[in-house]
Amino acid sequence: MSERTLIVVKPDGVQRGLAGEIISRFERKGFKLAGSKFMRVSEELARKHYQVHEGKYFYDRLVRYICSGPVLAMVWEAEGIIAMSRKMMGATFGYDAEPGTIRGDYSCSKGNNLVHGSDSVESAEFEIGLWFDEGELVSWEPANEHWLR
Ligand code: PPS
Repeated sequence: MSERTLIVVKPDGVQRGLAGEIISRFERKGFKLAGSKFMRVSEELARKHYQVHEGKYFYDRLVRYICSGPVLAMVWEAEGIIAMSRKMMGATFGYDAEPGTIRGDYSCSKGNNLVHGSDSVESAEFEIGLWFDEGELVSWEPANEHWLR
């Protein structure tokens, strides 16, 4: 069964010109793009998106960070994509993420981490519904499914 995830290139990823590199990694892996939009995040959206972290010491910082500049929000699709994309992003912050991962290759920060990816099927469903209307998502079939199997 195909799975969907929300991937967001965060303000530092956009400002550093890494959006294309991040898209490219997911494309070359064989993930299928189902939707994307370049946008500013309202405080209301940020607070809902990060509601599970409300009360943690970093919650307000997290909200300010995602609202600090434009982001590229995307929905990608593949069987098992949530676990695979989390592996490709690497550990939470670049300073201890493995080389070869997005954060490990492009960040040494202890606070900004370039990219967000949903961490479970439940959060992916919640986040995609929050960021995208159904009409903004495209269902399509690759010309040759066998390339991905
Ligand atoms: S947790 O607490 O185990 O759920 O943390 P984690 O899954 O690693 O991170 C959840 C999101 O919170 C961000 N985060 C932080 N931001 C700022 N400062 C600190 N110390 C911090 N710790 C975690 C982290 O980047 C995750 O954001 P997203 O957008 O989901 O990647």
